Amino acid sequence: MALPSSSFFLLLLSLFTFLCFSPSLAEIRFSEVRNDDRPIIPFDQFGFTPTGRLELNVSHISLSNNNLDLSKVGFFLCTLDAWLHVLQQLEDGEIRCALQSDLVKPVYTFNSLKGSNSFDNLYLENDADQYNLVFANCYQEQLKVSMKVRSAMYNLDGKSGNRDYLSAGRTILPRVYFLFSLVYSGLAGIWIYIIYKKRLTVFGIHFFMLSVVILKALNLLCEAEDKSYIKRTGSAHGWDVLFYIFSFLKGITLFTLIVLIGTGWSFLKPYLQDKEKKVLMIVIPLQVVANIAQVVIDESGPYGHDWITWKQVFLLVDVVCCCAVLFPIVWSIKNLREAARTDGKAAVNLMKLTLFRHYYIVVICYIYFTRVVVYALETITSYRYSWTSVVAAELATLAFYVFTGYKFKPEAHNPYFVIDDEEEEAAAEALKLEDEFEL
Ligand SMILES: *[C@@H]1O[C@H](CO)[C@@H](O)[C@H](O)[C@H]1NC(C)=O
Repeated sequence: MALPSSSFFLLLLSLFTFLCFSPSLAEIRFSEVRNDDRPIIPFDQFGFTPTGRLELNVSHISLSNNNLDLSKVGFFLCTLDAWLHVLQQLEDGEIRCALQSDLVKPVYTFNSLKGSNSFDNLYLENDADQYNLVFANCYQEQLKVSMKVRSAMYNLDGKSGNRDYLSAGRTILPRVYFLFSLVYSGLAGIWIYIIYKKRLTVFGIHFFMLSVVILKALNLLCEAEDKSYIKRTGSAHGWDVLFYIFSFLKGITLFTLIVLIGTGWSFLKPYLQDKEKKVLMIVIPLQVVANIAQVVIDESGPYGHDWITWKQVFLLVDVVCCCAVLFPIVWSIKNLREAARTDGKAAVNLMKLTLFRHYYIVVICYIYFTRVVVYALETITSYRYSWTSVVAAELATLAFYVFTGYKFKPEAHNPYFVIDDEEEEAAAEALKLEDEFEL
């Protein structure tokens, strides 16, 4: 069978592309710097519109050496492109300190402190672009800095003048999520109708599928509320708890559903084999870990201390889950192939085999698209269109749900399960042909 190995390779590849992932999320952030002598400390990233604002409140500043020229210590804003040039300038020796470059926009240099140990600063950014907020300390070994930093970046809304704490390009996300939650509510409605109409051929798994769709709709609704709360207030404490509960349940149920369908549970057989149960016993706790990691990642921002670690935990777990859910499908395909050879009902089994092969391919595509392609989109699209990667991921997920629902819907005359003699013969022929090809 020419099935899995190449796709596993793709999944491994996706792991590596992921490890250098950096998102752009910004809201109000609090960070603490302790006795730090790093020359550059990145704080946050944000896409500004022409009415961008940066509020910087720094307190508890303490410097290990007070006899230096503090104009070489301070905060600045810088686009990624400009930063690459600054690095070049530093390397060529044109400048000695990033703050001296005319490519960066100084926000506050510490010579303005004049003995004080805190400052508040409002910076107006009128050039629309994506900027990084960075702290530069051009004395490295000679100077250690401690401080508490509160940074808030936002854009003013054109008409109302309200603050919008979502980065340009992400500001329509609440609406996107809300729209998708409506779509899933619609799907849930259709599914309930189908279950009711075909109630004589409904299996347990159909109710399970219904719960997955409902959870997805609720999850998206919470995500919309969560994002719109961030948009308005800059902090992420709207419907947080509900949101995490739903994404947690959604993650577990989606993976469980893929495993259950993959094993053919309730279609092919009413029970699970031991090794299939083991897959579930691996995937469910891993989803718990993945969700905890996701919470930490969301709360601590890209430059937090443990951010990278948790991101890696999350990605590793995600990849393991994605691989694990493929095994039951592969086993089913193998069993069906063997059954097709040995028992008399070749055609029935062949049809089921085709179904499971399609399902396998679609699961692979779904996993690959939502992890690798979406990441690639995120990297190559301009910050102004960063919502497109979210839409792409949600569309792929929607297509996956619709495909699964369509292929495994309850149906009295499901071609995969009821077959007349003529088709049986044709299918048997096809199988013979296929065998010859393989030999
Ligand atoms: C932070 O600084 C800004 C700009 O000076 C000021 O308007 C705001 O009140 C300060 N916020 C806090 C929490 O100190």
